[in-house]
Amino acid sequence: MLKSALRPYVIMNMAMSADGKISTHRREQITLGSKNDRYMMDVLRSRVDAVIIGAGTLRVDGHPLIIRDPKIRRLREKRRLTLHPVNVLLSRSLGIPIRRPFFKHPDTQKILYTTKTARENERKRFAKYAEVIVLPRRGSFLGRVLEDLHGRGFERILVEGGGALNFSFFKGGYVNEIYLTVTPRIIGGAHAPTVVDGAGFLKAFHPTLALISAKKVGQEVFLRYRVRNN
Ligand SMILES: NC(=O)c1ccc[n+]([C@@H]2O[C@H](COP(=O)([O-])OP(=O)(O)OC[C@H]3O[C@@H](n4cnc5c(N)ncnc54)[C@H](OP(=O)(O)O)[C@@H]3O)[C@@H](O)[C@H]2O)c1
Repeated sequence: MLKSALRPYVIMNMAMSADGKISTHRREQITLGSKNDRYMMDVLRSRVDAVIIGAGTLRVDGHPLIIRDPKIRRLREKRRLTLHPVNVLLSRSLGIPIRRPFFKHPDTQKILYTTKTARENERKRFAKYAEVIVLPRRGSFLGRVLEDLHGRGFERILVEGGGALNFSFFKGGYVNEIYLTVTPRIIGGAHAPTVVDGAGFLKAFHPTLALISAKKVGQEVFLRYRVRNN
């Protein structure tokens, strides 16, 4: 079922260990990829209007979603785009720390989607640092987020995790492409987060992928897939 009508094109990018984990069972902030992976991240960020993360990722990481490589930033400037893609954070509850570099970066435009589950005083507090959009509690939160982003003229967005948010994106049928960097590590742990967590899919239905490219660079493999169901 095609779901792209009123939504931006959705690309997902994740780095994982060779056993499919995106962090340890303590959900530590861990840099899995090499400088080549970091470069790839910059390239993908440069091609989109916005980058989205879930509250869980902000809780453990909290860095702004910026393009670090000045050459890549200059390419965006030449195309008359903002220096960095818009930074989008999803948190229905706003149970997130405000003292994160994500909120402080001077050169990023920030949008925080939430619901009335979040207390009003919290919503006001975050409004000092980001545009806070309050969506209804009922219905598809993610569907509404994507419609709103589309309404702003955003054509391409990048989802950067974590596993819970990624599952919601796949469950909604919203993902068009996924980039995976397989890094040479084994993390293990039944409770360590993976690329797609949530409730998971079943044999009867799960998204299937078509491999677009697989490239070995140093000790890493860079995979790019198209999601077939979309
Ligand atoms: N290796 C990588 O490439 C990579 C990238 C990113 C993250 N990570 C790792 O991933 C871990 C965090 O992942 P996570 O699964 O715990 O958290 P997550 O997916 O980043 O965030 C989940 C939270 O996002 C909010 N949310 C809002 N709308 C949602 C929706 N439609 N579906 C799901 N969540 C929604 C919820 O918080 P509210 O209750 O506030 O609504 C939810 O608890 C960390 O260990 C981080 O280091 C790794």
